[in-house]
Amino acid sequence: ADVHTYFDLIANAVKAATRVRLTGVVEGHLSKDGAPEAVLFPQLPYIEDTHLNNEAVLQRLINLGQHAKESVDAVVSFGIGGSYLGGKVLFDVHCGEFWNQKTVAERDGYPQLYFSGNNVDPLRTNELIATLKRSASQKGADFTVMLILISKSGSTIEPMSNFMVVQEALLAAGINVEVVAVTDPRDDEKETLLHKLAVQQGWPIFAVPDGVGGRFSVFTEVGLIIGAVIGFDIRAFLEGARDMDKACQSGDMLKNPALLNAILKYIGSEKYGRIIEIMMPYGDSLKSLAEWYVQLLAESLGKKQSKGKGRYGRTPVVAVGTTDMHAQTQEHQEGRLNKIVTFVKVKDWETKAIVPHTYDEYKTLKAFSGLDLGAILNTALEANSEALTGDERFNITFELPTVSAYHLGEFMFMLCWSIFYEGQLAGVDAFDQPGVEVYKKLLGPKLAEQQGE
Ligand code: PA5
Repeated sequence: ADVHTYFDLIANAVKAATRVRLTGVVEGHLSKDGAPEAVLFPQLPYIEDTHLNNEAVLQRLINLGQHAKESVDAVVSFGIGGSYLGGKVLFDVHCGEFWNQKTVAERDGYPQLYFSGNNVDPLRTNELIATLKRSASQKGADFTVMLILISKSGSTIEPMSNFMVVQEALLAAGINVEVVAVTDPRDDEKETLLHKLAVQQGWPIFAVPDGVGGRFSVFTEVGLIIGAVIGFDIRAFLEGARDMDKACQSGDMLKNPALLNAILKYIGSEKYGRIIEIMMPYGDSLKSLAEWYVQLLAESLGKKQSKGKGRYGRTPVVAVGTTDMHAQTQEHQEGRLNKIVTFVKVKDWETKAIVPHTYDEYKTLKAFSGLDLGAILNTALEANSEALTGDERFNITFELPTVSAYHLGEFMFMLCWSIFYEGQLAGVDAFDQPGVEVYKKLLGPKLAEQQGE
């Protein structure tokens, strides 16, 4: 019933979505110098029709993956925020927690992969270097590490500083190092430092297209390059995104999952004060999906509304089922009535782990003996959702048929569109992030002070 109150807003949001698809223009979305700035994420899945992800781009990525498979032992990806979170999702879903401990044959020839540059933590960076050196000495001669340095702006402190530390340490240890840069490809007066460096050093350059913000960039070479070096099916990922894009165009919310999700969350926030969203996939490999979503939601919607209406946003929280049922669920169930829980369920894990009937003499253990862990996972989700619903605690469940590249592409693209629609409903520009500039202005001078400047 609430939806009717927002009829005009919804119609305008659908119009805005059509406009973005056709022209890339979002009303009020301006570049730093005040000119309208294109928003190009809707074009990304359309490989045939756009300059962004055309066949040549994909082939180049696949060739890089083939090269990594044949000649590289380990990859380190340096990036932060939008230049890290999407790639981490692809890695976790495709490779799982134990990838780097697998044999080369178990990895189908693909290299080990590590992430760095998503913090400036000296302990972890030194441990990463030690790990790479250990692997190199175990293999003997000819250990090659590919350093993928991802930064749209080309000078972000975390990836750049870690890259320099790791590169120097590996070279000093006599390890072969290859560097690949992913950055804004412009070579005009806006050329990034990373681009200049890459040209100077002869590093291959992959592109972060202008007009695609970090949190949408998993569908660009930023995310796809990680997919390419681990053998993830990047074509299927984009195909899923494309199919979902088609499913998210209707003005009828019952035929448009992104619009429906956006409307429900908007009403939940605006009318019912549900200003926290728990993103709770069930399954360990999906934790980074929740982390990716945290950035998408927080950076896109947490800001001032247009026309002086006030402030908008929901505080995103990462949770994983069943783990956090033993930690957060108490509060979700009985704490303040200010949350929406978004569950993500995998219908079929395509692998089974049946609990054996080892101790059937104990009733408690017998109760779940013979069951598959995946079935227990999904039953726990159902119970959690039912319990919340029983107390009018808002929750929504998305079901992925399997954790394939295709379904992941579908789901992540749906969330991107949902955030866009919600931004339009709430009167916020989902594509800017003025708030993160504030601390940056303070950090620069503080670092300069430390150097005695
Ligand atoms: O979404 C964003 O814009 C940020 O999270 C950026 O991706 C992050 O700050 C990294 O920026 P860059 O790719 O320029 O190094």
